[in-house]
Amino acid sequence: MKDEVLRLEAVYKSYDVPGGKLHILNGTDLSVGKGEIISIRGRSGSGKSTLLSVAALLLSADSGRILYSGKDTAALSGKEIEELRLRKMGFVFQAATLLDDFSAEENAAMPLLIAGERKKDAIRRADELLEALSVSDRKDHRPAELSGGERQRVAIARALALSPDIIFADEPTGSLDEKTALDVESLMLESVRLSGSSLVYVTHNSDFAMKADRALVLKEGVLIV
Ligand SMILES: Nc1ncnc2c1ncn2[C@@H]1O[C@H](COP(=O)(O)OP(=O)(O)OP(=O)(O)O)[C@@H](O)[C@H]1O
Ligand SMILES: [Mg+2]
Repeated sequence: MKDEVLRLEAVYKSYDVPGGKLHILNGTDLSVGKGEIISIRGRSGSGKSTLLSVAALLLSADSGRILYSGKDTAALSGKEIEELRLRKMGFVFQAATLLDDFSAEENAAMPLLIAGERKKDAIRRADELLEALSVSDRKDHRPAELSGGERQRVAIARALALSPDIIFADEPTGSLDEKTALDVESLMLESVRLSGSSLVYVTHNSDFAMKADRALVLKEGVLIV
């Protein structure tokens, strides 16, 4: 595919457990185009979080290929993988993992600061994103002084900060009440579309899943439509 950001080819992943192996991914294929938004559903324990971890190179696959922009990641060194993860990927988890001692604004700016951007530019970019996610009026609050929905929005801003090629979101609104989840879902999808990043998100909510360009289900270790 032209402009393919991520490609998984026949990925297998199992966990060693007492008395044998737990087979989770059984030849999973996935292709994510530039700017494409994909949702993944599946029963609890079906392997959705495992799939995201393997795709993001946080967990190694038993076999199969994982390519970023057409390049096989098997050929990359640990340092190159680290760099790829920092520059090209963004992450949002179910419960935001913000840094307690920093403000919302500083948290959102953190990837830029780590990447060596000037503080002034990093903060300006963070402010833009917080604005887009309707949480700029809380930019001086620390995580403990934010609501759950505000924390998730700051985490989404942080994931977008470096304009990554792809964002992985594991139940990004799973910890929120229904109304807040709806708001955060819309804001996330809007700001991701605006940024041009691709997005792969896991959700248990069918309505949210259907807002993606493609809604996939992980079943018996493979992705089906
Ligand atoms: N490190 C591990 N060692 C052994 N088994 C594991 C490990 N991590 C996950 N598992 C098992 O692998 C299966 C898939 O786990 P995973 O977290 O990927 O599921 P999931 O689809 O994300 O579930 P949920 O919807 O509940 O988040 C589960 O049955 C889990 O118990
Ligand atoms: Mg999970």
